[in-house]
Amino acid sequence: MRHETMAVDRLPALAFADAATAAGNAPSILNTQPWLWRVHPNRLDLFANRDRRLTAGDPQGRQLTLSCGAALHHARIALAADGWAAHVTRLPKASDPDLLATLVVSGRTPVTMEAIRLAHAMHIRHTDRRLVIERPIPEVGIQAIAAAARAEGNLHILTADDVADLGSAAGRAAAVEAGDAQIAAELMYWTGRTRLSGTGLPASVLPDHPTQTSVPGRDFGRPGTLPVGAGHDRAAVYALLFGDGDGPLDWLHAGESLSAAWLTATTIGVSVVPLSGVVEVAGTCHTLRRLLAGLGHPYLALRLGIANPEPHRPSPRTPRLTRAQVVDDSAVPPGAPVDRH
Ligand SMILES: Cc1cc2nc3c(=O)[nH]c(=O)nc-3n(C[C@H](O)[C@H](O)[C@H](O)COP(=O)(O)O)c2cc1C
Repeated sequence: MRHETMAVDRLPALAFADAATAAGNAPSILNTQPWLWRVHPNRLDLFANRDRRLTAGDPQGRQLTLSCGAALHHARIALAADGWAAHVTRLPKASDPDLLATLVVSGRTPVTMEAIRLAHAMHIRHTDRRLVIERPIPEVGIQAIAAAARAEGNLHILTADDVADLGSAAGRAAAVEAGDAQIAAELMYWTGRTRLSGTGLPASVLPDHPTQTSVPGRDFGRPGTLPVGAGHDRAAVYALLFGDGDGPLDWLHAGESLSAAWLTATTIGVSVVPLSGVVEVAGTCHTLRRLLAGLGHPYLALRLGIANPEPHRPSPRTPRLTRAQVVDDSAVPPGAPVDRH
């Protein structure tokens, strides 16, 4: 459905800076926000910031690139909601693997209600690790989330039998990660007091005790203060993001797919919790491959469920880096000539 009016005319460089800022709301592995945006008068570049890579928990940079893909999709939505048609080139320069994407605008475009809804969702989406409520997600909701994910990548919804296998694989992955001193140290850093300000996970978003669940969530190595409630999340649905290859371009698309699925889920009150440990531990990743039965490579497992409404106590949020730490607009000199469309 099309909105009647076009957004007011904006300069591309300003729109790029706004889109990059809005993309700061994207989810990222351990809230590392491993991206850097560079704004040019007629171009927006997305770089991976490997200073914030998890060298032990994410040695290949898969989760880092997935996170940047989610930020890329956020920026695309922000531009669309601002009335800009954008063209994206992914991994444009073989000699610079940190340059993950370049966006240019090709002109003005009518703002759709869908873009407005998704742009609004960027500001309220968050990872809610509490138990989901007992009510199942209506089939139409699952289909809407799957369709959003599939517009950018691939999503496989697991059967009850598959969920049992995912549960035991996630348990094994948690044990392997807990026994790895370097991974444990990384977790301690990103959840601890000495972490870089504006990043990581405060105690307020971490469960106060392990939930009763078919698939154990990440063991953060310390209890948080988030009351997760009693009961069992048997109404949750589990899914796998997957694709043909297992390289940076595949991970970037998968991150865009994650963002598309998560923003759509947010618009219909469905909570999403990613589970990445089970992909990063080689032995358990193998189980996921088997669950995909030849469909492709797994990138991320997802728990979907109806979020606990609890209107009087909104669930707490993770912090964010400042705009100046993730958006470099020094290439746009004041008064530089800019395109008007
Ligand atoms: C690629 C990726 C992997 C993630 N893996 C996990 C995970 O294994 N367990 C978990 O509880 N959250 C996971 N998350 C959620 C992040 O911790 C969360 O996005 C981040 O802390 C920012 O918080 P927010 O989503 O509330 O904005 C993951 C997110 C991304 C993008």
